[in-house]
Amino acid sequence: MEKRMLLRRVCFKEEVIMKIISLVSSYRINGNTDKAVSLIEKQLLSIADKENIALEVEKIHLSRIDIKTCCGCRACFDKGEEKCPLKDDLLAIWKKIHQADGILAASPVYVEDVNGIMKNWIDRMAFNCHRPAFAGKIVYIVTTSGGGTSNHTINTIKNAFTAWGTNFVGSSKFRTGELMASVEMESKYGSSIKKAAEVLFKAVKNNSAQKPSLYSLIVFKVQQKCWQESAQRQDTVDYQYWQKNKWLERDCNYYIPNKASFLKIKFARLIGSIVAIFYLKKVSKAMY
Ligand SMILES: Cc1cc2nc3c(=O)[nH]c(=O)nc-3n(C[C@H](O)[C@H](O)[C@H](O)COP(=O)(O)O)c2cc1C
Repeated sequence: MEKRMLLRRVCFKEEVIMKIISLVSSYRINGNTDKAVSLIEKQLLSIADKENIALEVEKIHLSRIDIKTCCGCRACFDKGEEKCPLKDDLLAIWKKIHQADGILAASPVYVEDVNGIMKNWIDRMAFNCHRPAFAGKIVYIVTTSGGGTSNHTINTIKNAFTAWGTNFVGSSKFRTGELMASVEMESKYGSSIKKAAEVLFKAVKNNSAQKPSLYSLIVFKVQQKCWQESAQRQDTVDYQYWQKNKWLERDCNYYIPNKASFLKIKFARLIGSIVAIFYLKKVSKAMY
Protein backbone atom coordinates (compact mmCIF):
# COMPACT_ATOMS: atom_id res chain seq x y z
CA MET A 1 0.00 0.00 0.00
CA GLU A 2 2.80 2.42 0.93
CA LYS A 3 4.09 2.32 -2.66
CA ARG A 4 0.75 3.35 -4.16
CA MET A 5 0.06 6.00 -1.56
CA LEU A 6 1.40 9.46 -2.15
CA LEU A 7 2.43 10.67 1.23
CA ARG A 8 4.85 12.98 2.86
CA ARG A 9 5.97 12.54 6.41
CA VAL A 10 7.75 15.28 8.29
CA CYS A 11 9.02 15.18 11.83
CA PHE A 12 11.37 17.44 13.72
CA LYS A 13 12.38 15.12 16.51
CA GLU A 14 13.16 11.45 16.67
CA GLU A 15 10.64 10.58 19.31
CA VAL A 16 7.13 11.35 18.04
CA ILE A 17 4.70 12.38 20.71
CA MET A 18 2.00 14.04 18.58
CA LYS A 19 0.80 12.80 15.23
CA ILE A 20 -1.41 14.65 12.75
CA ILE A 21 -2.74 13.10 9.54
CA SER A 22 -3.88 15.28 6.63
CA LEU A 23 -6.45 13.76 4.33
CA VAL A 24 -6.61 15.61 1.02
CA SER A 25 -9.37 14.61 -1.36
CA SER A 26 -8.56 16.82 -4.34
CA TYR A 27 -7.34 14.99 -7.41
CA ARG A 28 -4.97 17.86 -8.13
CA ILE A 29 -1.60 17.39 -6.48
CA ASN A 30 -0.36 20.89 -5.77
CA GLY A 31 -3.86 22.21 -6.41
CA ASN A 32 -5.53 24.74 -4.10
CA THR A 33 -6.54 22.24 -1.43
CA ASP A 34 -3.15 20.56 -1.37
CA LYS A 35 -1.41 23.95 -1.13
CA ALA A 36 -3.67 25.17 1.70
CA VAL A 37 -2.97 21.97 3.64
CA SER A 38 0.78 22.21 3.02
CA LEU A 39 0.81 25.77 4.38
CA ILE A 40 -1.09 24.69 7.51
CA GLU A 41 1.27 21.75 7.97
CA LYS A 42 4.25 24.10 7.70
CA GLN A 43 2.75 26.25 10.47
CA LEU A 44 2.03 23.17 12.61
CA LEU A 45 5.67 22.10 12.38
CA SER A 46 6.85 25.60 13.15
CA ILE A 47 4.66 25.75 16.29
CA ALA A 48 5.91 22.31 17.33
CA ASP A 49 9.48 23.47 16.88
CA LYS A 50 8.90 26.60 18.95
CA GLU A 51 7.24 24.57 21.71
CA ASN A 52 9.91 21.87 21.46
CA ILE A 53 7.30 19.17 20.89
CA ALA A 54 7.95 16.21 18.60
CA LEU A 55 5.26 16.31 15.94
CA GLU A 56 4.83 14.02 12.96
CA VAL A 57 2.69 15.25 10.09
CA GLU A 58 1.63 12.88 7.36
CA LYS A 59 -0.31 13.85 4.25
CA ILE A 60 -2.45 11.28 2.47
CA HIS A 61 -3.82 11.99 -0.99
CA LEU A 62 -7.07 10.03 -1.12
CA SER A 63 -7.04 10.28 -4.93
CA ARG A 64 -3.81 8.28 -5.14
CA ILE A 65 -4.96 5.45 -2.93
CA ASP A 66 -6.84 2.35 -3.96
CA ILE A 67 -10.29 2.99 -2.49
CA LYS A 68 -12.98 1.28 -4.53
CA THR A 69 -16.55 2.54 -4.85
CA CYS A 70 -18.92 1.32 -2.12
CA CYS A 71 -21.09 -1.46 -3.55
CA GLY A 72 -23.77 -1.12 -0.85
CA CYS A 73 -23.68 -4.78 0.22
CA ARG A 74 -23.76 -3.86 3.95
CA ALA A 75 -21.21 -6.54 4.80
CA CYS A 76 -19.27 -3.97 6.87
CA PHE A 77 -22.40 -3.14 8.88
CA ASP A 78 -23.66 -6.68 9.33
CA LYS A 79 -20.53 -8.82 9.53
CA GLY A 80 -17.68 -6.39 10.24
CA GLU A 81 -15.47 -4.13 8.11
CA GLU A 82 -12.92 -6.90 7.50
CA LYS A 83 -15.66 -8.78 5.61
CA CYS A 84 -15.95 -6.05 2.96
CA PRO A 85 -15.66 -7.76 -0.44
CA LEU A 86 -13.65 -4.83 -1.84
CA LYS A 87 -10.00 -5.57 -1.26
CA ASP A 88 -8.17 -2.26 -1.25
CA ASP A 89 -6.38 0.23 1.02
CA LEU A 90 -9.36 1.45 3.07
CA LEU A 91 -8.49 -0.35 6.28
CA ALA A 92 -4.84 0.71 6.05
CA ILE A 93 -6.00 4.34 6.08
CA TRP A 94 -8.41 3.53 8.91
CA LYS A 95 -5.44 2.22 10.91
CA LYS A 96 -3.41 5.36 10.21
CA ILE A 97 -6.26 7.55 11.48
CA HIS A 98 -6.60 5.29 14.51
CA GLN A 99 -2.94 5.87 15.33
CA ALA A 100 -3.14 9.66 14.88
CA ASP A 101 -4.04 12.30 17.48
CA GLY A 102 -5.36 14.89 15.03
CA ILE A 103 -6.84 14.92 11.55
CA LEU A 104 -6.80 17.73 9.01
CA ALA A 105 -9.56 16.80 6.55
CA ALA A 106 -9.58 18.82 3.32
CA SER A 107 -11.81 18.85 0.27
CA PRO A 108 -12.44 21.19 -2.65
CA VAL A 109 -16.06 22.33 -3.00
CA TYR A 110 -17.76 20.53 -5.89
CA VAL A 111 -21.34 21.65 -6.59
CA GLU A 112 -21.71 23.00 -3.05
CA ASP A 113 -20.50 19.77 -1.39
CA VAL A 114 -17.42 17.60 -0.96
CA ASN A 115 -15.90 16.17 -4.13
CA GLY A 116 -16.64 12.60 -5.17
CA ILE A 117 -13.35 11.23 -3.85
CA MET A 118 -14.11 12.49 -0.35
CA LYS A 119 -17.73 11.33 -0.53
CA ASN A 120 -16.82 7.82 -1.62
CA TRP A 121 -14.21 7.62 1.15
CA ILE A 122 -16.83 8.77 3.71
CA ASP A 123 -19.30 6.18 2.35
CA ARG A 124 -16.73 3.41 2.62
CA MET A 125 -16.05 4.50 6.22
CA ALA A 126 -19.77 4.40 7.11
CA PHE A 127 -19.33 1.37 9.38
CA ASN A 128 -17.69 3.80 11.81
CA CYS A 129 -21.10 5.46 12.30
CA HIS A 130 -22.25 2.13 13.76
CA ARG A 131 -19.02 1.37 15.57
CA PRO A 132 -17.27 4.70 16.32
CA ALA A 133 -13.58 4.05 16.82
CA PHE A 134 -11.99 7.49 16.74
CA ALA A 135 -12.99 8.94 20.11
CA GLY A 136 -10.30 11.18 21.57
CA LYS A 137 -9.14 12.40 18.17
CA ILE A 138 -9.35 15.98 17.01
CA VAL A 139 -10.59 16.99 13.57
CA TYR A 140 -10.09 20.29 11.74
CA ILE A 141 -11.70 20.85 8.32
CA VAL A 142 -10.36 22.79 5.35
CA THR A 143 -12.23 23.61 2.16
CA THR A 144 -11.26 25.50 -0.96
CA SER A 145 -13.82 26.88 -3.39
CA GLY A 146 -14.00 28.91 -6.55
CA GLY A 147 -15.85 31.68 -4.78
CA GLY A 148 -19.00 30.06 -3.49
CA THR A 149 -20.01 28.97 -0.02
CA SER A 150 -18.39 25.96 1.69
CA ASN A 151 -20.89 25.46 4.51
CA HIS A 152 -22.49 22.33 3.09
CA THR A 153 -19.05 20.83 2.34
CA ILE A 154 -17.90 21.45 5.90
CA ASN A 155 -21.10 19.95 7.32
CA THR A 156 -20.75 16.79 5.24
CA ILE A 157 -17.26 16.16 6.64
CA LYS A 158 -18.14 17.34 10.14
CA ASN A 159 -21.22 15.11 10.42
CA ALA A 160 -19.29 12.04 9.34
CA PHE A 161 -16.34 12.62 11.66
CA THR A 162 -18.63 13.43 14.60
CA ALA A 163 -20.60 10.21 14.08
CA TRP A 164 -17.25 8.39 14.07
CA GLY A 165 -16.50 9.77 17.54
CA THR A 166 -13.97 12.51 16.77
CA ASN A 167 -14.05 15.99 18.23
CA PHE A 168 -14.48 18.79 15.67
CA VAL A 169 -12.56 21.92 16.69
CA GLY A 170 -12.87 24.24 13.71
CA SER A 171 -12.78 24.85 9.99
CA SER A 172 -11.21 27.19 7.44
CA LYS A 173 -12.68 28.17 4.08
CA PHE A 174 -10.40 29.41 1.34
CA ARG A 175 -11.89 31.10 -1.70
CA THR A 176 -9.18 30.40 -4.21
CA GLY A 177 -10.71 30.60 -7.67
CA GLU A 178 -9.41 28.17 -10.27
CA LEU A 179 -5.77 27.90 -9.22
CA MET A 180 -4.01 30.11 -6.71
CA ALA A 181 -0.23 30.31 -6.31
CA SER A 182 1.15 29.42 -2.86
CA VAL A 183 2.62 32.91 -2.47
CA GLU A 184 -0.74 34.53 -3.19
CA MET A 185 -2.50 32.10 -0.86
CA GLU A 186 -0.03 32.88 1.89
CA SER A 187 -0.40 36.61 1.46
CA LYS A 188 -4.22 36.52 1.20
CA TYR A 189 -4.89 33.85 3.85
CA GLY A 190 -1.74 33.97 6.01
CA SER A 191 -3.59 34.77 9.23
CA SER A 192 -6.32 32.12 8.64
CA ILE A 193 -3.62 29.52 7.91
CA LYS A 194 -1.77 30.42 11.10
CA LYS A 195 -4.99 30.35 13.12
CA ALA A 196 -6.00 26.95 11.71
CA ALA A 197 -2.63 25.48 12.73
CA GLU A 198 -2.81 27.07 16.19
CA VAL A 199 -6.33 25.80 16.87
CA LEU A 200 -5.54 22.23 15.74
CA PHE A 201 -2.17 22.12 17.52
CA LYS A 202 -3.58 23.46 20.79
CA ALA A 203 -6.56 21.07 20.73
CA VAL A 204 -4.29 18.05 20.19
CA LYS A 205 -1.73 19.21 22.74
CA ASN A 206 -4.36 19.94 25.40
CA ASN A 207 -6.29 16.76 24.60
CA SER A 208 -9.42 18.84 24.16
CA ALA A 209 -11.40 15.75 23.11
CA GLN A 210 -11.85 15.29 26.84
CA LYS A 211 -14.13 18.32 26.65
CA PRO A 212 -16.56 17.19 23.92
CA SER A 213 -18.88 19.73 22.36
CA LEU A 214 -22.59 19.69 23.13
CA TYR A 215 -23.18 18.43 19.59
CA SER A 216 -20.79 15.48 20.10
CA LEU A 217 -22.48 14.57 23.39
CA ILE A 218 -25.90 14.69 21.73
CA VAL A 219 -24.70 12.48 18.85
CA PHE A 220 -23.39 9.96 21.39
CA LYS A 221 -26.72 9.94 23.26
CA VAL A 222 -28.72 9.41 20.06
CA GLN A 223 -26.47 6.50 19.06
CA GLN A 224 -26.56 5.00 22.57
CA LYS A 225 -30.36 5.17 22.77
CA CYS A 226 -30.72 3.53 19.36
CA TRP A 227 -28.47 0.62 20.31
CA GLN A 228 -30.11 0.25 23.73
CA GLU A 229 -33.49 0.00 21.99
CA SER A 230 -32.17 -2.67 19.63
CA ALA A 231 -31.40 -5.02 22.56
CA GLN A 232 -33.59 -7.68 20.97
CA ARG A 233 -30.82 -8.12 18.37
CA GLN A 234 -27.90 -8.74 20.71
CA ASP A 235 -26.14 -11.02 18.26
CA THR A 236 -25.24 -8.16 15.90
CA VAL A 237 -21.65 -6.98 15.44
CA ASP A 238 -22.78 -3.45 16.28
CA TYR A 239 -24.58 -4.33 19.51
CA GLN A 240 -21.65 -6.40 20.71
CA TYR A 241 -19.23 -3.57 19.90
CA TRP A 242 -21.26 -1.12 21.99
CA GLN A 243 -21.64 -3.64 24.79
CA LYS A 244 -17.91 -4.51 24.81
CA ASN A 245 -17.05 -0.81 25.12
CA LYS A 246 -19.54 -0.47 28.01
CA TRP A 247 -21.25 2.35 26.10
CA LEU A 248 -24.72 0.89 26.68
CA GLU A 249 -24.52 1.33 30.43
CA ARG A 250 -27.02 3.85 31.74
CA ASP A 251 -24.47 6.17 33.32
CA CYS A 252 -22.15 6.22 30.30
CA ASN A 253 -22.34 9.69 28.74
CA TYR A 254 -19.59 9.58 26.07
CA TYR A 255 -17.18 7.19 24.36
CA ILE A 256 -14.32 8.19 26.65
CA PRO A 257 -14.04 9.51 30.20
CA ASN A 258 -14.43 13.27 29.83
CA LYS A 259 -14.51 16.61 31.58
CA ALA A 260 -17.78 17.97 30.17
CA SER A 261 -19.79 19.90 32.74
CA PHE A 262 -22.67 18.24 34.57
CA LEU A 263 -25.23 20.61 33.04
CA LYS A 264 -23.91 20.11 29.50
CA ILE A 265 -24.15 16.34 29.88
CA LYS A 266 -27.67 16.54 31.32
CA PHE A 267 -28.83 18.79 28.50
CA ALA A 268 -27.17 16.62 25.83
CA ARG A 269 -28.80 13.48 27.26
CA LEU A 270 -32.21 15.14 27.23
CA ILE A 271 -31.93 16.43 23.67
CA GLY A 272 -30.32 13.19 22.46
CA SER A 273 -33.11 11.08 23.98
CA ILE A 274 -35.79 13.22 22.32
CA VAL A 275 -34.05 13.08 18.92
CA ALA A 276 -33.64 9.29 19.27
CA ILE A 277 -37.34 8.80 20.04
CA PHE A 278 -38.30 10.59 16.79
CA TYR A 279 -35.61 8.72 14.87
CA LEU A 280 -36.65 5.32 16.21
CA LYS A 281 -40.27 6.02 15.30
CA LYS A 282 -39.18 6.33 11.68
CA VAL A 283 -37.04 3.20 11.48
CA SER A 284 -38.69 -0.07 12.26
CA LYS A 285 -36.33 -3.02 11.93
CA ALA A 286 -33.01 -1.98 10.45
CA MET A 287 -30.91 0.95 11.64
CA TYR A 288 -30.51 2.44 8.16
C1 LIG B 1 -16.41 19.82 -10.88
C2 LIG B 1 -16.17 21.07 -10.11
C3 LIG B 1 -17.19 21.62 -9.38
C4 LIG B 1 -17.01 22.80 -8.65
N1 LIG B 1 -18.03 23.31 -7.92
C5 LIG B 1 -17.86 24.47 -7.23
C6 LIG B 1 -18.92 25.04 -6.47
O1 LIG B 1 -20.03 24.53 -6.39
N2 LIG B 1 -18.69 26.19 -5.79
C7 LIG B 1 -17.47 26.82 -5.83
O2 LIG B 1 -17.30 27.85 -5.21
N3 LIG B 1 -16.44 26.28 -6.53
C8 LIG B 1 -16.59 25.13 -7.23
N4 LIG B 1 -15.54 24.60 -7.93
C9 LIG B 1 -14.20 25.24 -7.85
C10 LIG B 1 -13.28 24.50 -6.85
O3 LIG B 1 -13.93 24.28 -5.62
C11 LIG B 1 -12.02 25.31 -6.54
O4 LIG B 1 -11.38 25.73 -7.70
C12 LIG B 1 -11.09 24.49 -5.65
O5 LIG B 1 -10.19 25.36 -5.05
C13 LIG B 1 -10.34 23.44 -6.44
O6 LIG B 1 -9.50 22.75 -5.55
P1 LIG B 1 -8.24 21.93 -6.07
O7 LIG B 1 -7.30 22.90 -6.72
O8 LIG B 1 -7.66 21.35 -4.84
O9 LIG B 1 -8.74 20.91 -7.02
C14 LIG B 1 -15.72 23.43 -8.66
C15 LIG B 1 -14.68 22.87 -9.42
C16 LIG B 1 -14.90 21.71 -10.12
C17 LIG B 1 -13.76 21.12 -10.93
